[in-house]
Formats: sequence, structure tokens, C-alpha cells
Amino acid sequence: MKPLATLALGLVLLAPAAMAQEADILEGRKIAEEYCARCHDIEPGGKFKSYPPSFRAIAVYMDPEIIRMKIMQPDHNTIMPKYAMFINQTRLWNVVEYILSLETLEE
Ligand code: HEC
Repeated sequence: MKPLATLALGLVLLAPAAMAQEADILEGRKIAEEYCARCHDIEPGGKFKSYPPSFRAIAVYMDPEIIRMKIMQPDHNTIMPKYAMFINQTRLWNVVEYILSLETLEE
């Protein structure tokens, strides 16, 4: 297996254990409404190919650990704020859990 594929697989296997601790999807939804909704479409059934990406599209295309990373350390030269300063790990995982919950919801 290529190193990158191994790494990705490792992240997929590790992430659920980390998230199982205190994920609270409703709390995640509140955080999303408060901090993210002015830019992202945070609703179930959000469009694909939109900019900024809808949370539903993010849920479908990205691994949990990558989502977490992108929230803490967004790409350079993006308008996306850096939340690392004021979202703690528990709240962060709640948002990630909320995003992931959209993957399975019907439109
Ligand atoms: C000021 C507008 C803005 C706010 C507020 C914002 N984002 Fe973003 N976000 C963006 C933009 C724009 C991108 C696309 C990255 C880029 O610029 O290419 C992005 C990208 C992302 C990505 C990576 C998706 C990808 O395909 O790279 C995640 C995950 C994300 N945002 C989550 C969040 C979360 C969670 C919040 C709230 C805590 C949030 N964002 C708040 C503008 C915002």
C-alpha cells in the first residue's frame, strides 16, 4: 500500500474512537448556526459544487480528521476564519459530528 493510502486508512480507523467520546450533534448544529451559517449552507440537502462548500458536500467528500483539520487550520488565502483560537476540542468534534450527520440524511 502507498504510504499516503496507509495514512488515510489509519485516520479513518482512528477518528471514530476519538469522536465517540462526547459528540453532541445538537450542540454542533448550534455552533454551526452561530459561526458557520453566514458562509456555508449548513442544512441537510445542501447543494454540491457550491462555494463555500455546503456542509453536506463536505460530509460526503471528506474524512472526519480532514474536516477537523480544515476547521482548525483553513487553507492560506481563504476568507474562512481560523477557529483554532476559540473553539475547544469537544465543541470542534460536535461540529464535525454535525457535519458528518448530514451525509446520511435524506434531502
Ligand atoms: C467567512 C466565511 C466562512 C465562515 C464563517 C466559515 N467558513 Fe468554512 N470555508 C469558507 C470558504 C470560502 C471555504 C473554502 C476554502 C477556500 O477558500 O478555498 C471554507 C472551507 C471549509 C472547509 C473545508 C472544505 C473544503 O472542501 O476544503 C470546512 C471543513 C469548513 N469550511 C468548515 C467550516 C466550519 C465548521 C465553520 C464554522 C465553525 C466555517 N467553515 C465557517 C468560508 C467560511
